[in-house]
Amino acid sequence: MKKLLRLGAILNLLFISTLAHAATSSPFVIPIETSQKGLYVLVEADAQVRVCYFGDKIEGYDNIKDIYPVGENPEVSNTKRSLYPTFGNGYVDEVALKLTHADGNMTTRLVYDSHKVAKVDDNVTLTNITLKDQHYPLYVSIDYTTYSNENIFTQTTTIKNSEKGDIKIEGAASAYLPVVAEKYYLTRYYGSWAGEMNMTETELGDGITVIDSKRGVRTTQDGMPSFILSLNGEASEQHGEVIMGSLAWSGNYKLSFEIDNLKEMNIFAGANDFLSDYTIGRKEEFETPKFVFTHSNSGTGQASRNLHDWVRGYNIRQGDVERPVVLNSWEGAYFKFDEQVITKMIDDAASMGVEIFVLDDGWFATKYPRNNDKQGLGDWHINYDKLPNGIQGLIDHAKLRNIKFGIWVEPEMVNPKSELAEKHPDWIVTSPNRTTHLMRNQQLLDLTNPKVQEFAYNVVADLLTDYPDIAYIKWDANRHVGDFGSSYLAKDEQSHFWIDYIHGLYSIYERLEQNFPDVIFQACASGAGRVDYGSIKYHHEVWGSDNTDAESRIFINWGINQFFPSQAVASHVSQSPNHQTGHSSPIKFRFDVAMAQRLGVELQPKLLSKNDLEWTKQAIAEYKRIRPVVQLGDQYRLISPYSDTGYASMIYVDKAQDRAVLFAYSIGFHYRELYPTVKLQGLDRNKMYKVTEVMPNKNNNSGKYLYAYDSEGAVLSGDFLMKYGMKLNIIKRNQSAVFEIVAIE
Ligand code: GLA
Repeated sequence: MKKLLRLGAILNLLFISTLAHAATSSPFVIPIETSQKGLYVLVEADAQVRVCYFGDKIEGYDNIKDIYPVGENPEVSNTKRSLYPTFGNGYVDEVALKLTHADGNMTTRLVYDSHKVAKVDDNVTLTNITLKDQHYPLYVSIDYTTYSNENIFTQTTTIKNSEKGDIKIEGAASAYLPVVAEKYYLTRYYGSWAGEMNMTETELGDGITVIDSKRGVRTTQDGMPSFILSLNGEASEQHGEVIMGSLAWSGNYKLSFEIDNLKEMNIFAGANDFLSDYTIGRKEEFETPKFVFTHSNSGTGQASRNLHDWVRGYNIRQGDVERPVVLNSWEGAYFKFDEQVITKMIDDAASMGVEIFVLDDGWFATKYPRNNDKQGLGDWHINYDKLPNGIQGLIDHAKLRNIKFGIWVEPEMVNPKSELAEKHPDWIVTSPNRTTHLMRNQQLLDLTNPKVQEFAYNVVADLLTDYPDIAYIKWDANRHVGDFGSSYLAKDEQSHFWIDYIHGLYSIYERLEQNFPDVIFQACASGAGRVDYGSIKYHHEVWGSDNTDAESRIFINWGINQFFPSQAVASHVSQSPNHQTGHSSPIKFRFDVAMAQRLGVELQPKLLSKNDLEWTKQAIAEYKRIRPVVQLGDQYRLISPYSDTGYASMIYVDKAQDRAVLFAYSIGFHYRELYPTVKLQGLDRNKMYKVTEVMPNKNNNSGKYLYAYDSEGAVLSGDFLMKYGMKLNIIKRNQSAVFEIVAIE
């Protein structure tokens, strides 16, 4: 895909101002603002463009033009803080752009060309700043979109080639952002299968720190294209200045944090330039992924809430709609099922109050039946030996039980032992003349190839067309790029693979969204392998991890929730002892953890004890009641599982501050008297609230240390709950409590 044309509304918008100043005019400032934040760009008299400030909005920002932003000595500092630093402008630090011009010149010098501002609506504004090479007809067009209420900024950069021939882009960041502070603390993510989203914070020293991925197609199990940069001190939930940023991209990414010789932080965010040279012809354009960022002067909690609101409002499917309760068949049946097993699970799910039953892996392939993960992947026809009445039989059965039906697919992948691999070996991503590295016994299909895109699209589209009652698709991707090479791309375009694959994937997602707008889509990639703003735009939710142990999930969900609202985080109650960790925990604890996100169940219902089954039914009913607050409310994280308290807690508050739900968990051993005190947040200090426990443990009333608490609950002011707090009776490992807090007249 050479020509990456923007679909954005830029051409259709009425620009409220379009300016082009002569290079010799006096300096001026371009303000890019939200309701509370500002990013200010200075165009200097010689047409150099610099980004001068990002943070709380400044009254009188125009004075920026009176202060030379980068020091007295141009020999040292002239190149600092360029809007889009390029190689060849005297730069010796990191750059945003490296390219070779049509004539072989490897240097680029950009100056101001024009800028325009357009209001999309009351909340959204688009500011475009176009830079031009001083000599060549090469343009760099930078689009900032601001979301005023959410205080969110996004940036996308487009390289436009009007030179006489091809240009080779050797690296084009989405964004460059300079920040000045005394100290810089970076929180990043690391992990692995069944252990995703661990957060770690370090103070950065001089030089460059890089967060990147070279895995190509599922990039968030080991890391994440998201970061928290805390200025002057470690990040805290309620205090301090932080910038949170994320690249909306499911492919290779690179986030660089460079402390330069002036002790300034230079942040670069973009698709990874690793073996990714990209050639575009004359009159062609190259558009980078979107970088999303926000600023908070009151800690990470506020920055997360900005991002959650933005995701629900602009970057997820149906963000204003509550997500249903799911029962997924995987951990309850794995590959071992027949029609009887599944229809019984549907019956049980329906009687529990579950709203969608999802049939996971194992329902397809005939020549090489998919009865384990070694064969059949790619052969998307129903295995009638297992399911004599096919998918329609299951859908009909689900209908009888008044429950919806969903299904698992993995359209990007193939087992070598499959009819698909036999028929289309050229569709497989592989390194010529090399032995193959299988991962989970499978290989990757080449989505740079339009024929393969069509195939993958049809895997889902055919299902949804043949069975219009399918309400939910779980799209899985169980390996990353290991063997590199495309038989579709030309010899000299192999390095386009990384970019073209993701565009191929997004084009499929986009068609599916357009053609099947009512179907719920989950992004799964062996768990949390695609937890990024690029992919979630086309989905309703992500699968948080194949690790369904509730205690592990407190940490995993905590990490995901920094950037993703609970509505988008599928969290399922599974069997105890847990299949991945072997750890046992009570049914209440397992539900209390999953109920803080998008609740689901992933077990064989018939294995539940009578008591656990009763608990399950009641918990699902309670969840449906508190769901609007949990899924659509504001999240305040109160006690971090990463703290050394052995507790974790969070509260959701609806936008009117009338209803809240508090979750608290004990995740360690505590001495006899070490009860946690949880100070709530987000309530209206002037309102009185009734506090009642949701499904208390019969022998362990968690609220018993709350003043004035009896079986009817307690009535307390928002001020009291936020200042004095609640002392909770949860001291043993895996005890937990959920409280509903409702304003009274
Ligand atoms: C991956 C997913 C699981 C399940 C299996 C099926 O591991 O993460 O949830 O769907 O594939 O093979």
